Amino acid sequence: MRIGIPKEPRQGQKLVAASPNGVEKMIKLGYEVCVESDAGALADYYDDQYEAAGATVVSKQEAWGADIVVCLDTPPDAELALMKEGSTLIARMNPWSNEGDIAKFQAKGMTALAMDAVPRISRAQALDVRSSMMNVAGYRAVIEAANEFGRTFTGQVTAAGKTQPAKVYVIGVGVAGLAAIGAAGSMGAVVSATDVRPEVADQVESLGGTFVEIPVKQESADGYAKALDEEQQKLTLAVYTEQAAKNDIVITTAAVPGRPAPLLITAEAVASMKPGSVIVDMGASELGGNCELSRVGEVVHTDNGVTIIGYNDLPSRMPGQTSQLYGQNIVNFLKLATPEKDGQLQLNMDDEVQRGVTVTLGGENMWPPPEVKVSVASKKEEPEEPEEEKRLITDTSRDARTIRGMLWKALLGVIAVALVVAAPEEMTQHFFVFVLACVIGFYVITNVTHTLHTPLMSVTNAISGIIIVGALLQVAATGDVAVLVMATIAIAIAAINIFGGFLVTHRMLKMFERSSK
Ligand code: NAI
Repeated sequence: MRIGIPKEPRQGQKLVAASPNGVEKMIKLGYEVCVESDAGALADYYDDQYEAAGATVVSKQEAWGADIVVCLDTPPDAELALMKEGSTLIARMNPWSNEGDIAKFQAKGMTALAMDAVPRISRAQALDVRSSMMNVAGYRAVIEAANEFGRTFTGQVTAAGKTQPAKVYVIGVGVAGLAAIGAAGSMGAVVSATDVRPEVADQVESLGGTFVEIPVKQESADGYAKALDEEQQKLTLAVYTEQAAKNDIVITTAAVPGRPAPLLITAEAVASMKPGSVIVDMGASELGGNCELSRVGEVVHTDNGVTIIGYNDLPSRMPGQTSQLYGQNIVNFLKLATPEKDGQLQLNMDDEVQRGVTVTLGGENMWPPPEVKVSVASKKEEPEEPEEEKRLITDTSRDARTIRGMLWKALLGVIAVALVVAAPEEMTQHFFVFVLACVIGFYVITNVTHTLHTPLMSVTNAISGIIIVGALLQVAATGDVAVLVMATIAIAIAAINIFGGFLVTHRMLKMFERSSK
């Protein structure tokens, strides 16, 4: 089958649906690929690169006339008209809101695959175009904020004095929020974040940020939030207003599926911010935004010196990278739907990912797909043992373990006593000390939690320094070559043990250096 990559028809769209590298991978799956001339020029991917990757560079009509057309969004009617009857369109379609488009696909007997409808399950992450886009958008939001902010993000100690690090507050810890936290932290800012889903607190902390608790907590099975009622809205706004005044930069990414972006930063909160502060409202759209004073696509400067960025094209401000990731998501989808690698798209409607993106199939309306719940999809229910049976099984295995343990201890005791009895008289004391050391060592180690075994052992390795003392005494006292050789070997091995132990401890401590700072 022939895949067409057209130039994006919408004014100002810099992205292209596949990079030359993506095209190469499509060809490896057995497809023939044609790319409209200049399709990738705004993302710095040029026709000769596509040709070198194995594609043919064609006219607009030819690209839209391919068997499978891959583009960014559902095309306008003029371009849709260029598509063949029965062809396949792979793009972002927002099928939840654009029911009118479904009728258009049906009228042409088309198969329409909405890449923005990939279910949010781990298996489908590699083809989730929303995650790729939001990831870039979150990063770019930080870059835009840094561009408007009049200071460095990182604190500095200079000859002229000390500067404080920037304080960045992120509201909404989804994909974009996490990317923003990571980017701001890596630039040296002190980052904090909030979400109505408390389960994301660990993720914030793992990125070096601080989770700011809010009085509203939502349980979420699918990774999305629900709209707040009036009372909850009031409670959260109070926290956001307080935080806005404390921080230098606020990045808002809160979203609720199927609803306009929730209001997080009111005009009053903006008024309470310090001059020079920056807000990036990622939710800014024609329907409103997360910030009351943002304007979509614009930068607003308020009377009290706050800059509010309302860009709604953050992913396409990094067109090369976003196009590459989008193209890779498409390739990953094609891998799934081309099991034979023969260039033939074979959609499997029993597969929840392929079914999830199918809006129409050969003209038949398939929307909406059956619901896929994250928790249900990823968690297999364990059959429950009846309570009584469970208790009996636990008791029996515990008894068996205790008896086995006692038998082992008795056996070891017998061996120890036998050794002490059988040993020559001058060795008895040494054996006694040895056996005692084994018993104490066993109880110390088994009573220390597993995660602390490595640091414990690496430090206690230093005890083998006593071997070096003993060996040195032998070297000093003897002229026997055999004793000298053995003492030298003992010194070498004990030295490896001691220095190795400290090296391991040092490496482990280094792993915690950043958080301890
Ligand atoms: P997401 O759904 O992964 O994350 C949104 C997060 O907001 C969720 O964790 C949710 O629990 C949280 N949330 C919802 N209501 C909240 C509230 N009242 N208070 C605190 N947290 C709340 O969404 P994703 O993918 O991270 O996208 C975030 C936003 O960025 C969306 O609005 C999206 O449309 C927008 N976006 C903007 C772009 C731009 O160029 N400006 C580009 C790409 C995305």
